[in-house]
Amino acid sequence: MSFNLLKGKRGIIFGALDENSIAWKTAERVHEEGGSFVLTNAPVAMRLGQIKDLAEKTGSEIIPADATSEEDLENLITKSMEILGGKIDFVLHAIGMSINVRKGRHYTDEKYDFTTKGWDVSALSFHKVLQSLYKADAMSEWGSIVALTYMAAQRTFPDYNDMADNKAYLESVARSFGYFFGKEKKVRVNTISQSPTPTTAGQGVKGFDGFISYADKMSPLGNATALECADYTVTLFSDLTKKVTMQNLFHDGGFSNTGVSQEVIEQFS
Ligand code: NAI
Repeated sequence: MSFNLLKGKRGIIFGALDENSIAWKTAERVHEEGGSFVLTNAPVAMRLGQIKDLAEKTGSEIIPADATSEEDLENLITKSMEILGGKIDFVLHAIGMSINVRKGRHYTDEKYDFTTKGWDVSALSFHKVLQSLYKADAMSEWGSIVALTYMAAQRTFPDYNDMADNKAYLESVARSFGYFFGKEKKVRVNTISQSPTPTTAGQGVKGFDGFISYADKMSPLGNATALECADYTVTLFSDLTKKVTMQNLFHDGGFSNTGVSQEVIEQFS
């Protein structure tokens, strides 16, 4: 169902790799709500992914950008404003990757080159996106910027590895930059803390199948899907949430406030 919540709004969507990606679902929902946008991803991911299909479906252009490169980001922002015909109203940062996880390095045996690269991609890239938008004065007043995160930033999930630290940093950046973006430009900055979701990045976490079904059993409403995350993001991009900023917003079916559920107790009794 569409409510035209984003009619006339322009945006940039990072991180649509394939149809499972949260960013992919978000692009589809934003399109349905009347928003127009530029799609972007790392050049290497673009060769692997099917982003062209999404661009065709949503009438969008694609601009490759490595989110760790300030030069790429400046180019992306300038070109997006040209293509879309004005300043940007919404941005989705849906980027994450741990090289330690990919290479099977345990949290107690990190290779720090991998740690640094993973932090740059997953966490510092959000600061780079925000700073590039800020310096270019590219955001419209009452614009909205959202990044995706996970609860391992607050509580320990052993196999989440160094991504837990990256997410803690990412959430801190949203608060810190959100202050300046709010004061100077009336722009809001938030993170959505999403349930485990079966995507390429999600399935990189060791033991993902057990992890996702445990979360589902622990959540009174069940896990939130990628499409539901897209719906929630649409509300944050809309004018209905203009005074929500500097928040980490749990979108997890109630998982984060549940001590234990009946289903989980039954496994042990
Ligand atoms: P995904 O694998 O579909 O998306 C991750 C994206 O990051 C890919 O499109 C990839 O190409 C992009 N990327 C990697 N390096 C990049 C770079 N240098 N520059 C630009 N883009 C780059 O997976 P998903 O799950 O949709 O991930 C989106 C976000 O959601 C991530 O921040 C992830 O940590 C977060 N998240 C995912 C959860 C899950 O269980 N899948 C749960 C909570 C948060």
